[in-house]
Amino acid sequence: MKIDILTLFPEMCNEVLNTSIIGRAKAAGLVDIECHNIRDYTEDKHRHVDDTPYGGGTGMIMQAQPIYDCYMDVTKDRDCHFVYMTPQGKTLTQDKVRELASYENIVVLCGHYEGVDERVIEELCPEEISIGDYVLTGGELPALVLCDSVCRMLPGVLRNEEAFEKESHFSGLLEYPQYTRPPVWRGREVPEVLLSGHHQNIEKWQNEQSISRTKEKRPDLYDSYCSHIIDK
Ligand code: ADE
Repeated sequence: MKIDILTLFPEMCNEVLNTSIIGRAKAAGLVDIECHNIRDYTEDKHRHVDDTPYGGGTGMIMQAQPIYDCYMDVTKDRDCHFVYMTPQGKTLTQDKVRELASYENIVVLCGHYEGVDERVIEELCPEEISIGDYVLTGGELPALVLCDSVCRMLPGVLRNEEAFEKESHFSGLLEYPQYTRPPVWRGREVPEVLLSGHHQNIEKWQNEQSISRTKEKRPDLYDSYCSHIIDK
């Protein structure tokens, strides 16, 4: 899979993308992620990429031309799924992450300042995705959230294939509690069943914990989990 990020701050994205699991996946050739500086495409002699909004108001608007030219250059000769990170988009869910992970090529546009000239959105018709109902200063952190969640779904990225199947949200349930050494810490003991070596009992306990945790912490997820079971 190839992910191209269109941004005014490529160095900010690269720092994160070259770290930890995603950095390892890139180095192993499991995913190719490239950041493109929108400023490199401006036709403005002062290299400006933004201007004041028509109709007045505070803040600066990213101009259509550099974004459009950057997008056209990055996508030439390729079919790409185009995503624009914006608080106006549909909220990212694990289902959407799974869908995005099935594309061969994704291009992600990060907005900045007060927004992007609407005409480039009309012209290129990206899928608009939000990472939640709060407003950030730019689309870079949301793009990184999207990349991280998509990359961990790709074959070989997580060491244990099971890791992502059993985890939070994959089955619509929250993850069960996890423990590691020592068996007693500040008087708190690891649940006995986990030390028993009895795999069937362990799995049963973990399943029950997932269900009771979801019911307690995320009643919204629990309700949709229950209706899903009834539908089946
Ligand atoms: N840009 C600014 N805030 C955002 C959000 N919550 N999701 C996606 N893109 C954004």
